[in-house]
Amino acid sequence: MDGKVASAAIKEKVKQLVDERKARGLKTPHLAAILVGSDGASETYVASKVKTCGELGFNSTLIRFDSDIDEATLLQQIEKLNQDEDVDGILVQLPLPKHVSEEKVIETISPAKDVDGFHPVSVGRLVQGLDSFIPATPYGIMLMLEYFQIPTVGKHAVVIGRSNIVGRPMSILLSSQLPYGNCTVTVCHSKTKNLKELTLQADIIVAALGRPGFLTGDMMKEGAVVIDVGITRVPDATKKKGFAIKGDVDFDSVAPKSSWITPVPGGVGLMTIGALMMNTLAACERR
Ligand code: GUN
Repeated sequence: MDGKVASAAIKEKVKQLVDERKARGLKTPHLAAILVGSDGASETYVASKVKTCGELGFNSTLIRFDSDIDEATLLQQIEKLNQDEDVDGILVQLPLPKHVSEEKVIETISPAKDVDGFHPVSVGRLVQGLDSFIPATPYGIMLMLEYFQIPTVGKHAVVIGRSNIVGRPMSILLSSQLPYGNCTVTVCHSKTKNLKELTLQADIIVAALGRPGFLTGDMMKEGAVVIDVGITRVPDATKKKGFAIKGDVDFDSVAPKSSWITPVPGGVGLMTIGALMMNTLAACERR
């Protein structure tokens, strides 16, 4: 599953919808992003989100704070964006410095502008099958399954990882009644005892645990669909940046046995921004 091809199609569709809105005199979608500190990966992600906004005709605002910002100031800034009539979507890039509560930050974002889908209201709505903002990574994976028309109904999906950002919402979506849901889902995590026994039964495996090369060919059955969510930076002196991005899947042993596989880089990661843009457009339309 080539993320470049699928994400280009999603972005093209969103751009068309935005162009149509503008032609009808409707509001331009506006995403506000907050970046705290200067973590390398977070800088890259936020820069990429802001750049994509420009490419698709969205307005964007980037607000930066030093890592020693106090929590109250950050919460006040979020409140200001909640009140700002022009802003449709708000995202605060995670992780945050230890002295700032991610929980408080997420709960301060207005659910109407929660384009990351991390607010308990968004998660609750997702669990109940109501219209909601779906977190970008699992949403991107659903869009990928749709783009490549991969059958999911009645399949056994094994999700490795139970994070709020990926594993948990992924398991909800795959078991939902959405078109690319209707799977029987098993969620595995660090305390799972018989992991290989479970992955060997899977028709679809989503590896989202953050351990490079974790899933190997001997852990899967022939013909399974494998989705790699890992994006760990591993030191690599042969690369210009000094690191390589490694997925959670050992591509060399898994790819020959799989019917479909997402590469890293060039797979799921590219879909996430398209998903965020879909959420921001939806936030603008709903408001
Ligand atoms: N950090 C890692 N993934 C994400 C994401 O999807 N949204 C935000 N805000 N921070 C992240």
